[in-house]
Parts: sequence; C-alpha cells; structure tokens
Amino acid sequence: MQHIVVVQQSLHLDGKIYLSGAKNATLVSMASLLLVSGKSILRNVPDLEDVHCMAEVLTSLGAQVYFDTKNNYLEVDTTHVQGTTVSAHMMKKIRASILVLGPLLARFGKATLAFPGGDAIGKRPIDFHLVNFEKMGANIVSEGSTIHAFAPQLHPGKFIFDYPSVGATENILMAALCVQGTSYIINASLEPEVLDLIALLKKMGAAITIQAPGMIIIQGGNPLHAADHTVMYDRLEAGTYLLAAAITGGRIEIPNADASIKDIFLAKLAHMGHEVIAGAQKGIYLKANPIMRGVSIRTEPYPGFPTDLQAMMMAVQSLAQGESIVHETVYDNRFLHVPELLRMGASIVVQGNKAFIQGVSSLQGTLVQGGDIRGAMALVLAGLAAQGTTQIQGAEHLKRGYENFEEKMQSIGAHIILKTA
Ligand code: EPU
Repeated sequence: MQHIVVVQQSLHLDGKIYLSGAKNATLVSMASLLLVSGKSILRNVPDLEDVHCMAEVLTSLGAQVYFDTKNNYLEVDTTHVQGTTVSAHMMKKIRASILVLGPLLARFGKATLAFPGGDAIGKRPIDFHLVNFEKMGANIVSEGSTIHAFAPQLHPGKFIFDYPSVGATENILMAALCVQGTSYIINASLEPEVLDLIALLKKMGAAITIQAPGMIIIQGGNPLHAADHTVMYDRLEAGTYLLAAAITGGRIEIPNADASIKDIFLAKLAHMGHEVIAGAQKGIYLKANPIMRGVSIRTEPYPGFPTDLQAMMMAVQSLAQGESIVHETVYDNRFLHVPELLRMGASIVVQGNKAFIQGVSSLQGTLVQGGDIRGAMALVLAGLAAQGTTQIQGAEHLKRGYENFEEKMQSIGAHIILKTA
C-alpha cells in the first residue's frame, strides 16, 4: 500500500508529546524470546509495521503471538517453536530479522535464513555476525541469497569486533548465553537499546556484565526462562519531536523522555541557540530560538551523535544561519534525503560522506520522495517549516518507525495528514 503525507506549513508547534516504546529495542527483544520455551510478555511495544513483521517471523517459526496494539502489550509463547527456517520474503522485509539467527543457533543448533533486507541507506553487510558465529563453532554456508547455519556444538570465546555493530553485538550476545563457559564481546555496541536487551536477558536468568571500555562478558549456560519486560521509550522518537519544535520555532515538552541518554544531541540543539531543559532522569523541554545558528555534527556509535537523527538534523540545519557540516561515519549512503531537501530550496553540497549545508532563509513545499524511515521524517520536518504544501511520497516508511505520528504531531499544532493511495 502506498502512503503519502501531506504537510502544510505549521509554525510554532507547541505542546506535550508522550513517547512510545523504542522500535529497535522491541525488535531485538522479540527475537530474544526464541531463546526460551514458554510465554513471555513485552510491554510498551509500539504498534509499528516492523513490529508486525517480526511477529510474523516468530509465528512462522511456530511461536504463538498475541499483540494487543491498543495497550501496547505483546505475549509470545515459544513453547511449540520447532521451525528453524525463515522465508526469504519475510527476511527481506526487515533487517532486524537477522536477529533470530543467534537465538535459533543457540536453541536448535541450526537455522536457514536469507540475507536480510531493510532500508536503502548503505550496503549493510552482516559479515560481523557470520564471522563471529563461525568463531563460535558454527558452520555457515551461503548459497545465493540463502544462509545455512549449523552448530551442533557452540563454544565460548573472545569475539573481537572491528566495529561496534549493534546487530552483531545483539546476535553474538544472545547465542553466547546458551554456550557453557565465559564469552567476551570486545568493542561491543553499548547503545541504550543493547542495554535494554541485556536488562531483558537478565530477567530470563542470564549472567551478563559490562566492563569499560566496550566489553560485554557473558557467563553462558545458565538455564533461561520466559520473562516479563517493559521496553524502553524511543530516544529517536524523542529526538524527532524535539527537532520538529526546533524547526518550527516552537516549544515542546516530552515528559517521559530519558534525558540522560541524549547528551550530545541535546548539546548540539543548545549550541544552535535553543533553550533545552533536561530533567535529572526523565523529561526534556525545548523552546526554540527562531534564529538558529549552524552547528556541525559527526555521527558515531553511542554516545556519539546518532546516525538515526542525522537526516532530521539536516532539515533543521538547512534553516540555520551560516554553514553546518554533517559527517556521516556509520553508513556509506545515508544522504538520500539531500536531493529532496534541495528540491525544497535547501543549499547542500555532498562530498563523500560529508554534507556541507549553507543555511537558507526559507524552504518551499513541493512533491518529494522519502527513501527510508528517518529520511522520510526529515522531509516531514522540512515540510512543517516550508512555505505552502509539501507532499511526501514513500511515507509508508514512517509507519514502520513512528507510532501514531500524525496524531502526535497534530496534537501540538501540525497540519499533517496521511493519505493512502
Ligand atoms: N556493518 C558491517 N557488517 C556487519 C554489521 C554492520 O559492515 O556485519 C556496518 C553497517 O553496514 C553499518 C554499520 O556497520 O554501516 C552499523 O551497523 P549496525 O550493525 O551497528 O546497525 P544495525 O544493527 O544494522 C541498528 C538499528 C539502525 C541503526 C543502527 C546504528 C535496528 C533494528 N536497527 O542497525 O536503525 O541505524 O543500529 O545505530 O536496531 C533506524 O531505526 O532507522 C535504523 C536504521
């Protein structure tokens, strides 16, 4: 189904927004339930396309899934899971489908999957996952787009990552839990979503410790059991609505945002001239400075500036005074939003993985194309500030990552409607 978002200029957004549960923490939490036999409960689960896709993956493996979308309550009973094959069709729908590989190998000693799909934001290989499963003793054979993995017996080890990949950390961590002995993930990702997964795994009975800098130590072999976990709030959704207030010269309060995990992002907003007040633990308030200063960012693994907020930040930088530079270091092709912002009147030059943005005094609404979740949202933000009407095609991406975004934005004064073609 094709979705188009129509946005009218909506200056001075003003109000309060409550966040939903985090998409990326939810998806890996769901995959992790395959590690155990029994009925687990996840709360604060956002009603998103990607979550429904992951539910389909679990169902296809034999899990019984009940999702009460109104109450964001998800029950997954994995007692009768026997399947170890996920169809290429399902694997292509979401990148996070690869996260079932670790749990399946750990519990059943085999899995047949396809290379996962996902957003068009770069090559996104899964070599860190596969190399480390092999180091753990798995035999991995790829045949075209199919991956066959066999692991009659996995063994513990030191898994040293070239790069702190979020997904590879999660996958290896989950598999290592079922391996007798101590495993170490070195140069592990310690993104808040990984820590949320660790909190859930500990509720299942796992013994995991984190040691600076970037090491996860897993004491494998503990019996694991079903668990009840409340997923963390979505820090990327928080960043999105803060940027919506910033670009429209508005004000926003997000009472349930975790301020402690957004330091660099909030510092950059303050640098632009916005008033940012963060609660000691929860709650973020932003009052925009309509005359924003340009600010440069470099995306990096946590606690650096999150790549998932880069596109939206660029929409805001397009209207800030002076030059801003964006250095994208996480992905090799995450500038799909640039040609669309240019069509709206932005002044941006891309050289390699850097974008040089010269602030302009206004943007103009037009027909643009969103290529991924965050890029499409960047165009929505640009549309809120742009003169006239902006129509964003490819808006189905937004349904994958933002729960009720139209209602939430409308509640603070945005003129935005989602149309289905
Ligand atoms: N990479 C490799 N080889 C690997 C794994 C990763 O080269 O085996 C590269 C990737 O190509 C990418 C970089 O390492 O250039 C980072 O990838 P990472 O594995 O850390 O990301 P991911 O686990 O695939 C998750 C989020 C992404 C988010 C990234 C980085 C989920 C489901 N997705 O992806 O979220 O951008 O971490 O923080 O957790 C989004 O929400 O819009 C989104 C894309």
